[in-house]
Amino acid sequence: MTTLSQEDVGTRIRELGEWFQNMELGGVWTAPHHFLGDYPAIKWANFRDAVPADLTGKTVLEIGCNAGFYSFEMKRRGAARVLGIDSDSGYLAQARFAAEVSGLEVEFREMDVYDVARLQERFDVVLFMGVLYHLRHPLLALDLIHEHVARDLMIFQSMQRGSKEVARLQADYPFAETAVFGEPGYPAMYFVEERYSGDPTNWWIPNRACAEAMLRSAGFEIVAHPEEEVYLCRRRSSRG
Ligand SMILES: C[S@@+](CC[C@H](N)C(=O)[O-])C[C@H]1O[C@@H](n2cnc3c(N)ncnc32)[C@H](O)[C@@H]1O
Repeated sequence: MTTLSQEDVGTRIRELGEWFQNMELGGVWTAPHHFLGDYPAIKWANFRDAVPADLTGKTVLEIGCNAGFYSFEMKRRGAARVLGIDSDSGYLAQARFAAEVSGLEVEFREMDVYDVARLQERFDVVLFMGVLYHLRHPLLALDLIHEHVARDLMIFQSMQRGSKEVARLQADYPFAETAVFGEPGYPAMYFVEERYSGDPTNWWIPNRACAEAMLRSAGFEIVAHPEEEVYLCRRRSSRG
């Protein structure tokens, strides 16, 4: 726990730049004017009961941890070791400060999702929340997570756009079959060439069928869908 006064915490929060995650640190909120409201707490409230309440002895990797909100929640559930990685050093500085103020022992490391093989470790729980659509190579990232770091449970979230339908598809279609691609429930991803919501790091946004198909294709079985954008998955030993 920090010995900083509330005023000093506020000063440090401001010095650490703009926060994406709203958290209360020593009586000060980090992002009280977030465009999504009290985020990610409002998201977490919708699926927290689907996540094992007791993570005693478990290892956790959070990819794209930002300021550490979900890493801290995993630690509060008793995880033995929590590692948060993110490609943005500014967010990691926020995460380290949040850990210091909260007194929670979480390790944060600057690392790109494409480099997870370098960790040379598998984790009982992997969180991969809100990152997929920020990637130019989203399926590669899921493949790498499956191949190198996931052992059992993955908690996944992606922004979704387009149809919420999921079509029942055959395993194969003849070349002359073209209509199926026009079905709203066919897996599809939207490519954002410039920016979406003012953000040039939004690249690929899947519809629901696509998010689910990509998870399966990368070797993850969907075991729960507690919130529109959130999936709990188990790693299968082989890909789909
Ligand atoms: C929308 S935020 C989501 C943060 C948090 N996971 C959540 O759900 O609240 C996306 C995060 O992914 C990180 N990120 C983007 N591309 C990444 C990459 N290639 N490797 C690791 N982290 C990445 C960003 O820096 C940012 O912290």
